Amino acid sequence: MTSQESDADGYGALRNSLVGDLTGDILEIGAGIGPTFSYYGTEASVTAIEPNEELRNAAEETAAAARIHVLPGEGEALPFEDASFDAVSASLVLCSVTSQAETLAEFKRVLRPGGSTCLLPAWPSSETSAHLYTFNDFIQKQRT
Ligand SMILES: C[S@@+](CC[C@H](N)C(=O)[O-])C[C@H]1O[C@@H](n2cnc3c(N)ncnc32)[C@H](O)[C@@H]1O
Repeated sequence: MTSQESDADGYGALRNSLVGDLTGDILEIGAGIGPTFSYYGTEASVTAIEPNEELRNAAEETAAAARIHVLPGEGEALPFEDASFDAVSASLVLCSVTSQAETLAEFKRVLRPGGSTCLLPAWPSSETSAHLYTFNDFIQKQRT
């Protein structure tokens, strides 16, 4: 069963909106166990990084099925050359990194001119703030 079929956390539609239309060379950071992998289209060539070895190992089966390479790495120091990717995606990750500013600066460095940053931020923690948004308001896509 693919992660798209199982949609274990119920965020499948959001993940599809985030990455389903991406094409070219894509970098996903903080991939976890790979719940987003099956939502990339066939025109996307995806490289993923995940700093946690246990999660990275758990992602391997899903990654292999989706022809995705998963490497160790952190958002603040991406192990890639400048202008290497057409898009960078991060779902539920920017709340986890040590430095959001350094991570976003790294996104800009590794993106090609006109490349896209695709973010699915973590959910608001209280019902008070959650009801101010619809789910799709959370997804942010921006071209450099
Ligand atoms: C809440 S999980 C999200 C996992 C997955 N992206 C998803 O959509 O379910 C946060 C992930 O960020 C990773 N992470 C933590 N610090 C990081 C960093 N500095 N750079 C990149 N990823 C990081 C964690 O190991 C974890 O896999």
